[in-house]
Amino acid sequence: MPDQQSSTDSTRIVSGIQPSGPLHLGNYFGMIRPAVALQAQGEAFYFVADLHALTTVRAPGDLRRWSRRVALDLLAAGLDPTRAVLFRQSDVPEVTALAWILSTITPLGLLERAHAYKDKVARGLPASHGLFAYPVLMAADILLFDAGLVPVGRDQTQHVEITRDIAVKLNEAYGPVFKLPRASILDDVAVVPGTDGQKMSKSYGNTIELDLDGDALRKRVMGIVTDSASVADPKDPSSSTIVALYRLVGSGSEVRQMEEEFRGGGTGYGQFKRRLVEALEAYFAPFRARRESLARDPGAIDRLLQDGAERARAVAGRTMARVRLAVGID
Ligand code: ADP
Ligand code: TRP
Repeated sequence: MPDQQSSTDSTRIVSGIQPSGPLHLGNYFGMIRPAVALQAQGEAFYFVADLHALTTVRAPGDLRRWSRRVALDLLAAGLDPTRAVLFRQSDVPEVTALAWILSTITPLGLLERAHAYKDKVARGLPASHGLFAYPVLMAADILLFDAGLVPVGRDQTQHVEITRDIAVKLNEAYGPVFKLPRASILDDVAVVPGTDGQKMSKSYGNTIELDLDGDALRKRVMGIVTDSASVADPKDPSSSTIVALYRLVGSGSEVRQMEEEFRGGGTGYGQFKRRLVEALEAYFAPFRARRESLARDPGAIDRLLQDGAERARAVAGRTMARVRLAVGID
């Protein structure tokens, strides 16, 4: 059982995903699928990081809608709520209590070096305290559950390193309170390219969302940027976004076939893109069917999240008791 004391010996797996927009292929292959695969290997805690999303989402209606959708997407992708604990971050108040304690020993310099913060400010987001302190809240998410493994996309590795640095600082100050977590990243899907060839990200407007299908999906895939090679020209599969995405959803033999046709010339990008659309449709058909059936019972999702929050709080409460004792506020 996830909330039994003895189970702290097994590997705890913790990850969160921000409800800051509809999820896309980068989120799915970079985080959701690996996280779901890992649920069999330990005691997993997966959450909708709505407190983190508050640093960028200003419309309450959007936050509510996207939070529910992330939960649905995780379940549709195969998260098994009898195995993994699924909850909404804001339903576990221990996380903000721990974040404060961690913030008191976090050196400013550590946060000043965070790429994600610098990138967001460079893109024009207001430099709020929440945005700056984002890694401290993330450290609290992870340390609250004594996580051993944190499945995330490559862009989050620095945040997991900051978590380790914060844990070390606290352990130096107060004794061995926290174990040190490590990031788990699948190399072959570490960076999913977007339609413009850069990393797929909602901030770059180059995403293929998980709920696109039919014409909308076709249009998005047809918009993938390619070079100016003509139909007859041989093409380089290793630098192609089409091939990179096809590798995620096509079978081994289909991918090899496409790579050969790229090198051979005689096939245009339009044809490859149509093949990618078909493969995406087929790959995500079972996912879509599960999501539709889950969406028919929103009450069940709410109950599931409540149950997850209770299970998470049972563990969080024990960690906080340990932390309070260590720092002297017990
Ligand atoms: P976005 O860049 O669209 O804002 P997030 O930062 O919310 O996405 O990322 C949520 C999770 O999905 C993180 O674990 C992140 O590493 C992963 N992820 C996002 N985009 C990609 C991508 N293009 N390739 C691989 N993983 C990704
Ligand atoms: N920062 C992560 C992202 O943007 C989301 C997140 C919040 C997270 N808390 C976490 C991921 C704890 C792993 C563990 O994707």
